[in-house]
Amino acid sequence: MEQEKLEAPASNTGQGRSISFSRSTTIRLMEALDANGHGNVHGGVIMRMVDEAAAIVAMKHARLPVVTARVERFDFLAPAYIGNVVSVHCAMNYVGRTSMEVGVEVVAEDLMTGVTRRVASSRVIYVALDKEGKTAPVPPLVPADADEQAKLEQAHLRRMRMRAIEEELAMIEQMTS
Ligand SMILES: CC(C)(COP(=O)(O)OP(=O)(O)OC[C@H]1O[C@@H](n2cnc3c(N)ncnc32)[C@H](O)[C@@H]1OP(=O)(O)O)[C@@H](O)C(=O)NCCC(=O)NCCS
Repeated sequence: MEQEKLEAPASNTGQGRSISFSRSTTIRLMEALDANGHGNVHGGVIMRMVDEAAAIVAMKHARLPVVTARVERFDFLAPAYIGNVVSVHCAMNYVGRTSMEVGVEVVAEDLMTGVTRRVASSRVIYVALDKEGKTAPVPPLVPADADEQAKLEQAHLRRMRMRAIEEELAMIEQMTS
């Protein structure tokens, strides 16, 4: 049987992509092998799920392979338990020239009661690579409405602030070494 081929929009870095274009959710049931010494879900299991799910968003936006450049923030907010279903919700926060920041919210659900809780929150930065493994430009992020525009501006300001802090820290390191 001939398979239907769903065409993605042409990969053109001049052509912007929306947040909804790459937004994604990954879901997995937590099993015994995911446990830590306390019998809860191991933090490393959640971190791996976050990196894998967020990388999918970055690759989808760029239509290029990506590498993880930085986990800018990772907050564990509550434990997830074995038997919970863990959902990793990812959306593009910000796009630079070759880098992309993906925002991640992790939610655990007790399937017997339906009770959900936020277990982690993260921001991960990816860089797109070309066929030679060199950093490659990616399409800009185009906000769909005023709310998205505000979030994008907020993310831009955050990136600028982080850069300023890094420069300050590098100066302090230089002065003290
Ligand atoms: C990430 C990597 C490709 C960046 O290479 P580089 O030569 O420093 O690239 P550049 O200086 O040209 O920076 C490219 C972009 O990445 C951003 N960037 C690079 N390192 C970064 C970091 N540590 N944190 C945040 N952003 C970073 C730059 O700000 C720049 O963004 P822009 O193009 O949107 O303005 C390189 O450091 C690398 O290969 N690291 C290892 C990645 C890896 O193995 N990850 C784990 C497994 S996937």
